[in-house]
Amino acid sequence: MDETLFTSQPIHWLAENDKNDKIVPANILDWLLELGSMTKRFEQHSQQVTVIPYLERYVSQDKLSADEVQSLPESPRYWVREVVMYGDGIPWLLGRTIIPEETLTDDDQQLVDIGRMPLGRYLFSRESLTRDYIHIGFCANRWVRSSRLRLSNKPLLLTEIFLPESPAYR
Ligand code: PHB
Repeated sequence: MDETLFTSQPIHWLAENDKNDKIVPANILDWLLELGSMTKRFEQHSQQVTVIPYLERYVSQDKLSADEVQSLPESPRYWVREVVMYGDGIPWLLGRTIIPEETLTDDDQQLVDIGRMPLGRYLFSRESLTRDYIHIGFCANRWVRSSRLRLSNKPLLLTEIFLPESPAYR
């Protein structure tokens, strides 16, 4: 399957000033602003977290959303990875990662090969990982966040949609 689940509905991004608990329920905000690994956080709420990639391929810039184009440097190709993350078999999160080809150097070339290994296991094991920002939004009644991360200063963009059964809504 190479059909994205992400571009069928627009994502409405909040302004930076709206990242507060008057606009976003406090329990959800705490999930959206999680700075550590989301996989680890989900593991605290289930016996087993699994990640199933359903889209992994190179695309050209015209396959990215306007937000994605704006958030990343221009590149001839981008690696796109989309996954469903399950907690004990229940779908909790959709993840979409966009990696400009120039980011895939040295060890980081492994990112095209991680398969069912949760992305966070790779990213959070790298000393060179930094984060530029987290943007918060919503899409079809679901909360979404987008993080621009860097590995040795090379950018990638990770967007995560929290599905209705995710513990973020409890
Ligand atoms: C992924 O493996 O691509 C992944 C896992 C967990 C997330 C986001 C992405 O929260």
